[in-house]
Amino acid sequence: MRVPASLIVTRPVGPLTGTVRVPGDKSISHRALMFAALAVGETRIEGLLEGEDVLRTAAAMRALGAEIWRDGAAWMVAGRGIGGLVEPEDVLDMGNSGTAARLLCGILASHPVIATLTGDASLRRRPMARVLDPLGQCGARFMARAGNRLPLTVQGTGSALPLDYVVPVASAQVKSAILLAGLNARGETIVTEPAATRDHTENMLRHFGASVQVGQHAGGTVIRLIGQPDLRAASVLVPGDPSSAAFPLVAALLVPGSAAQIEAVGINPLRTGLFTTLREMGADIDFTHERREGGEPVADISVRHGQLRAVDVPAARAPSMIDEYPILAVAAACAAGTTRLRGLHELRVKESDRLAATAALLAANGVAVAIEADDLLITGQAGPPPGGGHVATHMDHRLAMSAAVLGLVATAPVTVDDMRFVDTSFPGFVDIMNGLGAGLGAA
Ligand code: S3P
Repeated sequence: MRVPASLIVTRPVGPLTGTVRVPGDKSISHRALMFAALAVGETRIEGLLEGEDVLRTAAAMRALGAEIWRDGAAWMVAGRGIGGLVEPEDVLDMGNSGTAARLLCGILASHPVIATLTGDASLRRRPMARVLDPLGQCGARFMARAGNRLPLTVQGTGSALPLDYVVPVASAQVKSAILLAGLNARGETIVTEPAATRDHTENMLRHFGASVQVGQHAGGTVIRLIGQPDLRAASVLVPGDPSSAAFPLVAALLVPGSAAQIEAVGINPLRTGLFTTLREMGADIDFTHERREGGEPVADISVRHGQLRAVDVPAARAPSMIDEYPILAVAAACAAGTTRLRGLHELRVKESDRLAATAALLAANGVAVAIEADDLLITGQAGPPPGGGHVATHMDHRLAMSAAVLGLVATAPVTVDDMRFVDTSFPGFVDIMNGLGAGLGAA
């Protein structure tokens, strides 16, 4: 259904029940298009997320010379080979997507082209120094706006040096940007990450034929990539996005009487911090029919409503649930006691300042919440929060969906100011939620 930009969400008439599938994983979808464009031959991608962020990546890879088309429900990419991308004729607009912008900086750094990247107002506020600083060391040049913000222009190099870099923040985007620059550098690129982050780049590069070795050392996880591999086309099956599954899953946990199943969700251990935390809170979540699809672990997830209790979530878990804090905060707002979510500084540089915006989302709806340094504290009353608030989503899809889920449980209706950004990661969100009985948009 067509959803108005602003949405008033009320409690559904009954429990949420049924079986749904969520769209393809966003991280894997970006990578599939990018790596296929760097491979020789035709890659077939099934289950690609057709969200705005990923469509921006498809448009950018086309502008860089790859051929990309749909074949029924699948997407096809005819790649150019490593080093074979061509200079784009126009500015590359990455929309709302930090992943697309940062990974592309890595690819472009080791191609002898000049390209300018921009994005929407949210992306133009996000810090890029975290990728520009290391990529500058491989020989690429960047000119960016004050504060290293987009728009920026990259002058890539055809003779990139391989980097040996310790990533100072836990960021899969930074790790990936450096590995991607290393694809067209002679020799071995080495990335050390003190805290392990999602490893879809490593897995998929191997799948396309690169040599990627991963080892554990005192300083963290060390990833070694041999430069200038022959990447060959390989079919990709994209699992359902656990970060999207989080919304119907938490909704079913919170709406009384609910029991739902979400099929074919990616359960890569570096992405499943939310499920671990919810189970610690007492949630009834089962993985069934566990299997491997397209090189990634996948399961069907069953969830039942139940009362949750507060927990103390360690900072070390942040990388494996980085995008799920807003929806976890909504769950905590319904739990018994005070939940402490530790070490959330990275949330400040997401699509919005998600630490401040998540606190504001809850406070506007009568939930006791506090920010202490990098920690978020949420006190739930073992039941529905008051609600009745107006939520400002700041161009942030995950805040919009979290606010909508809060509206399904709160005593009074919750107004979400702007649902349009939901399409960046979860097209069909309203229809899928309504398939479970949420009744979104019916008010
Ligand atoms: C992503 C990495 C994470 C995550 C983002 C997707 C990726 O960002 O928040 O939504 O696909 O590599 P950081 O690397 O900045 O933590």
